[in-house]
Amino acid sequence: MFHLGWFTNFMPPKSWRTHWGGHDAEEWATGKFYVDFAKSLERACFDYIMLEDSLMVPDIFGGTAEVELKHSLYAPKHDPVHLAPLLASATEHLGIIATMSTSFYPPFMLARTLATLSHLTNGRVGWNIVTSSEHRSAQNFGMDELWQHDSRYDRADEFVEIAELLWDSWGDDAVVMDRETWAYADYSKVRPIDFNGKYYKVRGPLNTLPPKHGRPVYCQAGGSPRGREFAARHADTIITAAAGIPAMKEYRNDIRARAERFGTFLSRGGIPLDQEYRPQRLHHEDHPLEWMKNHSIPGFVGCVKRTNALHGKQIGAFHAPHGDRGPDQSRSFQDSGSR
Ligand SMILES: Cc1cc2nc3c(=O)[nH]c(=O)nc-3n(C[C@H](O)[C@H](O)[C@H](O)COP(=O)(O)O)c2cc1C
Repeated sequence: MFHLGWFTNFMPPKSWRTHWGGHDAEEWATGKFYVDFAKSLERACFDYIMLEDSLMVPDIFGGTAEVELKHSLYAPKHDPVHLAPLLASATEHLGIIATMSTSFYPPFMLARTLATLSHLTNGRVGWNIVTSSEHRSAQNFGMDELWQHDSRYDRADEFVEIAELLWDSWGDDAVVMDRETWAYADYSKVRPIDFNGKYYKVRGPLNTLPPKHGRPVYCQAGGSPRGREFAARHADTIITAAAGIPAMKEYRNDIRARAERFGTFLSRGGIPLDQEYRPQRLHHEDHPLEWMKNHSIPGFVGCVKRTNALHGKQIGAFHAPHGDRGPDQSRSFQDSGSR
């Protein structure tokens, strides 16, 4: 048993360069191309589509944004959060993972957005938890530089804790909808979280319903030791770009060992990603197109099952599309790790 995920982003399809690109190349920003894409993935029994994101226009090559914009490499890039409900309304089972950065969202806004999306997608939304890795992004949010690498992950740990507390600030039986007493919610079951941590202070409670299944599915791509620790601690599914089979095995074994310490279990599963991943360590002298031609890195997806279920609730679950297996055999992430 293995899982399939597709890694992509909300950008112009590369077919715009060709004579056969059709209307999709011009109208990608309507989302219709991605709706069609998501429906095809569902037909092909994929578990999820993962929408990468970043928050800047890079100017790493030659000190200008010319190459990036000329070849639409990193921009324009639209917000996957708003694409997610479109994809969900056109599909039934596909998980839809949107990227949201813990360095720039306030925890309350992120928890609220994902709770809203959880209902709009009928429990099929996932969160690709990134800490961001470009100073250019930080400069769009009032900072000169990002926080130091490991400190971003320390903040992210606290961020996830707050998001989970907020999602849990509505008790399971808080919504009563009692037509006799005209009580929609029982106020005594909706409680402030009064979080006062090292980095954040959040009162709560959340002003949305709690997400379906308690929380969304978490995706992560930790590469450094601290990043791997974060991924092993939190993620339900981990994506990575490893150069070759030995590197993939090393990554899997390392994550597995780390995950066991957190009471999680790494199940098998791997697929090539749809495109080469271009890490930020791109040197200034490397032309991005040349670099991409010379660095084809196979990707790998591992699925992690959390055994320490959140507050006793079932974690967010994407149901694998039925395909030819029939509805009764559809599986969620919750089930899948045990096989
Ligand atoms: C396949 C893959 C997809 C990623 N997608 C994103 C993304 O959408 N947004 C982002 O800011 N970072 C993304 N990253 C970067 C990771 O979040 C992380 O910063 C990177 O893997 C380096 O890990 P480290 O910070 O632990 O060294 C991605 C990484 C990989 C390998």
